[in-house]
Amino acid sequence: MPSLLRHFECPGCHRTWSPREPATYCTGCERTLRSVYDLAAARDRLSLASLRARGPSLWRFQELLPILDPGNQVTLGEGETPILPVEEPRYAPGLTLLVKDDGLLPTGSFKARGMAVAVSRARELGIGTVMVPSAGNAGAALAAYARRASITARIYMPRDAPRSARDQVTAYGGTLRLVEGHIGDAGRIAREEAKGSGAFDISTLREPGRAEGKKTMGLEIAVALGPGSLPDAIVYPTGGGTGLLGMHHAFQELTEMGWIEKVPRLYAAQSSGCAPVVEALRKGRSRVEPVAHPETIAAGLRVPNPFSSEDILQAVRSTGGGGVAVPDPAILEATRWMASRHGISICREAGCALAGIRLLREEGTLDAGERVLLYNTGTGLVEG
Ligand SMILES: Cc1ncc(COP(=O)(O)O)c(C=O)c1O
Ligand SMILES: [Zn+2]
Repeated sequence: MPSLLRHFECPGCHRTWSPREPATYCTGCERTLRSVYDLAAARDRLSLASLRARGPSLWRFQELLPILDPGNQVTLGEGETPILPVEEPRYAPGLTLLVKDDGLLPTGSFKARGMAVAVSRARELGIGTVMVPSAGNAGAALAAYARRASITARIYMPRDAPRSARDQVTAYGGTLRLVEGHIGDAGRIAREEAKGSGAFDISTLREPGRAEGKKTMGLEIAVALGPGSLPDAIVYPTGGGTGLLGMHHAFQELTEMGWIEKVPRLYAAQSSGCAPVVEALRKGRSRVEPVAHPETIAAGLRVPNPFSSEDILQAVRSTGGGGVAVPDPAILEATRWMASRHGISICREAGCALAGIRLLREEGTLDAGERVLLYNTGTGLVEG
């Protein structure tokens, strides 16, 4: 059994769930579960060289993923994405900029990582139907992976979700339900309907698999660049916070295994029209305050009240990082700039992170000479 998963644990009350239980989240604490592995065994069995030698698949990290039987691993070939150095004096003056491009993953976004693992877990648990509320990309990824695993997928999206995501869901044979409002409204309706249908809820941070899949973002960065060459900072477009939590978990585990000494500072970039995480970080709050009227052209960032926000905020703070909010016009400009200037197609969400880097540099949060990684979470090809 290659997975070294010991159990799932609530970071609030420390209750544990065994690997074979259909664990979701801690309903008492309303918090996401942390996956706990035997890291001493991981240190003995793995090395950076052995991981590199396994090739580019996400499943090369199987010891640190929560799928017990490798036969249940569902794959569409997701795996290592490039880290591209970019000379960018306009948005990253004085910095060394690296762009990690997850737009190349199946279905065009980093959501493939989380869904590969969450759907594999559903298969391992013998679950026949899963559901998810989604701003777009998560739904597209779920539909594809669920089809690959012969599991039924119900996807709830805001009516104005990007056309490409809606089209992907139907193309992959998922059931698409469009709802009025934002992703929070979609989640409410999805959970009401799941009570009747029994569909398993794999909403952002309400089950452990998706964040563990996103953990491979951090693991990949460490394996590709090597422990001595990690970026000083990673700027990440933040909606539900899965990516931040996943990367943080990766760097924590690598620290505990003795592989890295310095963790990159994590920065959350959000649109000024919906910036609950950035606001909480800047105001020193321990939880987010929900945004009443979330508005932004970056669909994946329109998350007014992320679940388990205390964990997201703690993760960012523990790295010495922070947050930055960017107005929508600056998001669009930065998104277009990356394509027209560097030939790299980034999504609007990552355009937010790019514009955020400039603001963080201007305010002196990012220092001259630092190496900064811009995480491109999706392709820009799908947007008009
Ligand atoms: C392209 C893109 N980037 C970023 C996000 C934010 O994701 P999270 O903060 O949950 O990792 C999303 C979520 O929908 C997205 O689709
Ligand atoms: Zn708890």
